[in-house]
Amino acid sequence: MKTVKLSNSLEMPLLGYGVFQVNPDECERCVSDAIEVGYRLIDTAQIYKNEEGVGRAVAKSGISRKDFFLVTKVWISNAGYEKAKQSIDTSLEKLKTDYIDLVLIHQPFGDYYGTYRLLEEYYEKGIIKSIGVSNFYADRFIDIASFVKHIPMVNQMETHVFLQQQKLHKILKENKCQLMSWGPFAEGKNNLFTNETLLNIGKKYNKTSAQVALRYLLEQNIVVIPKTVNKDRMVENINVFDFELSDDDMAEILKLDTDTTLFGNHTDYDFVKYLLSIK
Ligand SMILES: NC(=O)c1ccc[n+]([C@@H]2O[C@H](COP(=O)([O-])OP(=O)(O)OC[C@H]3O[C@@H](n4cnc5c(N)ncnc54)[C@H](OP(=O)(O)O)[C@@H]3O)[C@@H](O)[C@H]2O)c1
Repeated sequence: MKTVKLSNSLEMPLLGYGVFQVNPDECERCVSDAIEVGYRLIDTAQIYKNEEGVGRAVAKSGISRKDFFLVTKVWISNAGYEKAKQSIDTSLEKLKTDYIDLVLIHQPFGDYYGTYRLLEEYYEKGIIKSIGVSNFYADRFIDIASFVKHIPMVNQMETHVFLQQQKLHKILKENKCQLMSWGPFAEGKNNLFTNETLLNIGKKYNKTSAQVALRYLLEQNIVVIPKTVNKDRMVENINVFDFELSDDDMAEILKLDTDTTLFGNHTDYDFVKYLLSIK
């Protein structure tokens, strides 16, 4: 698997498997399938309530822990130094591991500075190998990056062909922060899987629209974590390293960018209220 080097020199796989909305009862089976297919980066979160399934699948795989790259995220209700500490200790137990490769602050709400102090402490102790944030727009990102000891190494953001994060990506690069895409298929919104541009480009390489959508992000060194519960699609989504998009293809896909979220704006009152209500 191709990797990217984070600002602290840790190698992170460029492609992984995301388990948002994977039912906790089905998670172990899904992650076991993903591991069999070749995925080594697994992206979960405390709020997905399926960290145990990830931990069981990794433990049962028989593959060395050091070959995995496990990611979890601290939810808003666990914000603040003490609660973050308790919650990460619980995540370590659920994931059946004594270290986590990457821990992110899931959302920029609550006492996330307190959370970040704990992340930095665990990072310095080696309990967490890299630390970062998620859903931190440019203003939140530059705020936290300016007042912490270790600048977030990763920012996981909604990123797909319809919201390409061009401006934010430039800012993150300036700060040596890796952009990690969530929702690389926009969960199929805007008819991504039947998009004419993606289908036509795919035909040239005998690839699907999903593969072209992933490849577009990979060519820009954006880490992707597509989710599927279907093993055939797991195979499809990882088979994206045997072709390259031309400059013309890239230019065509660039035109799909609407620079607008398809899920919810983190500066919108009602959307933030909704996020705060999730426990
Ligand atoms: N930090 C955050 O706030 C945040 C938010 C959202 C997501 N994430 C992370 O990002 C990961 C990916 O995002 P996501 O799960 O929201 O959505 P996504 O990966 O963009 O899309 C998943 C959807 O696409 C379908 N699908 C997958 N592969 C396909 C293929 N080859 N052909 C056709 N359909 C396909 C899946 O259906 P089936 O499962 O039925 O195949 C599912 O409905 C999550 O799992 C999570 O780890 C993070």
